[in-house]
Amino acid sequence: MIAQTEARLSTGSRTVGHRVPRTPAPPEVSSFWTLQCEQERTPLTDSTLNEHRLYGATWNTLYDGYFADAAVASPLVEAVLDAARSREPAVIADLGGGTGFILGEILRNMDGHAASPRLVCVDIAREQLGCCPEPITTLECSVEDLRRDMLASEGESLMLCMRSVLHYLGMMGMKPDLGRLRSVLEKGEHLVHQTICFESEREQEVANLLYELMGTEKWYPTTGYLVEALVEEGFSVTDARPAASLPISSMELERRYGVGHEEMTRIGMRLEALCEGRLSTVYHPSRNGFTVYLDYVVLTCEAD
Ligand SMILES: C[S@@+](CC[C@H](N)C(=O)[O-])C[C@H]1O[C@@H](n2cnc3c(N)ncnc32)[C@H](O)[C@@H]1O
Repeated sequence: MIAQTEARLSTGSRTVGHRVPRTPAPPEVSSFWTLQCEQERTPLTDSTLNEHRLYGATWNTLYDGYFADAAVASPLVEAVLDAARSREPAVIADLGGGTGFILGEILRNMDGHAASPRLVCVDIAREQLGCCPEPITTLECSVEDLRRDMLASEGESLMLCMRSVLHYLGMMGMKPDLGRLRSVLEKGEHLVHQTICFESEREQEVANLLYELMGTEKWYPTTGYLVEALVEEGFSVTDARPAASLPISSMELERRYGVGHEEMTRIGMRLEALCEGRLSTVYHPSRNGFTVYLDYVVLTCEAD
């Protein structure tokens, strides 16, 4: 996967043949900010509400502890530290940072850095932020509503990182929200993110059909679409690294999104039909249902 990603990057990140959906103009951003964003948000769907039941203390135990595993996190953590070495940011903010695990790993591996940056965990879910350990500070706010002055004072340099969050923004939101994140950064500053994306449009289709049938608004891009959207929104993608895929069983999906077992069996049959008997890297049937494997890439993006 990484070889193809790098090939795209070396040709200026332009990918022929990937569909880039047209997106509406971003909404106006309110000028009033507190440590807690008070704007009205889009109402949560049932499946998203159900997901919130797993936030907080339970989160780090999900999927065999994938989200609290130091080895799994290391490609992202190393990419953040590599970028931090060149810029020495005063603040590192983790967007959709959940329980603060990634920031904790950044702190733990930061030996040798001249100055210790302030670490801020930004998330919309209060249950997640409540688990962030000291000295991480928290900001209850959505990615869509974020502004630079909420994170850094005049003259302070900023770095953003993010793991497994972009797909929450949906197909229509992803590109404009990347543009909004670009506007939070100054030229030369970094956004380092680990995002689920797929090399092939077929695998992307399988993953997106599953999440649509479960009633979520999550949407996964192809790697080509993601890189193209980043470039169009004002980033240079300077580094790409693979990260461990996330395997999720259909039973775990039932629990996370509140989908009944019979309904999940029907969903499995739809995925099976879409795959038409051909092997899929995403969809793997099993005796009790199926397992999906979600691919990640870590991208270091510099604001142009
Ligand atoms: C899959 S979890 C990942 C948590 C953390 N980044 C990690 O890797 O352990 C996604 C997180 O993003 C948060 N989130 C989802 N949509 C968000 C948004 N629009 N703005 C901010 N946070 C969001 C969720 O509350 C959740 O904590």
